[in-house]
Amino acid sequence: MAKKQVVALGGDGVGPEVVHATCHILEKAGFGVEIIKPPCGETALENYGNAFPEETRQLCDKADAILFGATGDTSTIILAYLRWVYDNYINIRPIKYYEGATSCLKNAEGIDFVILRENSEGMYSFAEGDLSLLRQKMSDYRNLIGKSISDFGDGKFAIRIISEKGVSRLAEYACQYTLKRKSDTFEGKLTCVTKSNVLRQTDGLFEKIMSAEVKKHPEIVYEKYYVDDMARRLLKYPRSFDVIVTSNMFGDILADESAEMVGGLGLAGSACIGGKVAYFEPVHGSAPKYAGKNVINPTATILSAKLMLEYLGMYQEASSLEEAVESVYREGKSLTYDQGGNATTTEVAEAVLRQIK
Ligand code: IPM
Ligand code: MN
Repeated sequence: MAKKQVVALGGDGVGPEVVHATCHILEKAGFGVEIIKPPCGETALENYGNAFPEETRQLCDKADAILFGATGDTSTIILAYLRWVYDNYINIRPIKYYEGATSCLKNAEGIDFVILRENSEGMYSFAEGDLSLLRQKMSDYRNLIGKSISDFGDGKFAIRIISEKGVSRLAEYACQYTLKRKSDTFEGKLTCVTKSNVLRQTDGLFEKIMSAEVKKHPEIVYEKYYVDDMARRLLKYPRSFDVIVTSNMFGDILADESAEMVGGLGLAGSACIGGKVAYFEPVHGSAPKYAGKNVINPTATILSAKLMLEYLGMYQEASSLEEAVESVYREGKSLTYDQGGNATTTEVAEAVLRQIK
């Protein structure tokens, strides 16, 4: 079988370091992926005057998968391309506790759920503007208490889009994903999170499409909560969740909250799939303060690579990578500062590599 082709893009800030550390593991472990590292981000901007050169973009278009580091000031265009131009509408954010990780909870043992975040619309329509424009377009509009747009005076608006197509494709995936996870350990539960008591039309539609899809699969245990209630429940009953499905911005926020319960953003990996070329990235940002210091935790990117290997059908390689991470945390000798250790980025990568069976 031909080797899978992966394009690795560091991006900005600490992105190149964590991607480099992860590629080092993938290459040295002999996992049989071919990794191409074209220029991008800050260094590409300095050397070629472009953070996302045309040649890099073309390599991405042809790749089997992309591993991405982090977006800072220069590489927002890369994220925009990978997420929105490719239309990777499903964002998978696993929240799993590995023994030895630093949780904000007294006991994080056994936390293991997944957030499926809609990744293409919602509050991320990038359609914002002056209230004066909305005033013209919606001159007859009255809200719940009879207020018109002009009653708000001057200001800005943002458009939150919940489309039938957008929710339907996410709902189908969420059901299939829940059924796939259903096993002795997981009960096959899907939790839908909205704010449909306030966003009656948009989240009303989200909920309606979601529950109609779930009805086709009686094996799925279905529940729904408002996002504020959910933020609280996550902290109080973190072991009671299996698969959580939600719109774009709620998913963004709940994922950061949830990550903190299992060790923080340093351990939060993610997959963005469903579009032209899938890409995999840590949930954390570019952390420019730490760039070039070799101190940032590479685990989030390593766990993103684990999701990538699974996506590429390399299940055995994915498991051995995850088991290696598990061993490193259990042992607790090679952990970065955010986990109470003093190991460098490269030392963590070396430790993971040594544990690969
Ligand atoms: C994330 C990030 C992005 C988002 C930013 C960088 C646009 O916070 O991937 O969670 O809001 O989705
Ligand atoms: Mn985020």
